[in-house]
Amino acid sequence: TPPRPILLHVNGTDHAVAADPATPLLHLLRNDLGLNGPKYGCGYGECGACAVLVDGKAVRACVIPAGRAEGHVIVTLEGLASPDGTLHPVQQAFVDAQGAQCGYCLNGMIITLTALAAERPDADEAAIRQALRHNLCRCGTHLEILDAARLALA
Ligand code: FES
Repeated sequence: TPPRPILLHVNGTDHAVAADPATPLLHLLRNDLGLNGPKYGCGYGECGACAVLVDGKAVRACVIPAGRAEGHVIVTLEGLASPDGTLHPVQQAFVDAQGAQCGYCLNGMIITLTALAAERPDADEAAIRQALRHNLCRCGTHLEILDAARLALA
């Protein structure tokens, strides 16, 4: 498909990016808008590193065609903190629980838990584990990640 302006509403700002509408949303966010919070891990929708919020739901930006994101409210990791720099409670929980090793998976963990916190602020351990079940961490930092999740949702 030939390039055309793709209209994206990201972190409260409208953008027009010339691209093939089939281009994965992740590529436009990272390469055209300079939003590097969402990470490229597998590119197949399996690892969760690329997660962004679309209309409040955590979705995998590596498998969403950019054209399908038009007209939706997109929030990336960069858009979670308040304008004054105060971290989102889920972000702060990861700081407090030191829930990172290499940190590559953290975007997906934080975006997924942010969606869960909005949907179910009282999410219990089972719900936390269910939400994170397809977010992969190759460092094996799962225990600290779960500590952070409990802090954020406590
Ligand atoms: Fe999108 Fe792995 S990079 S799920």
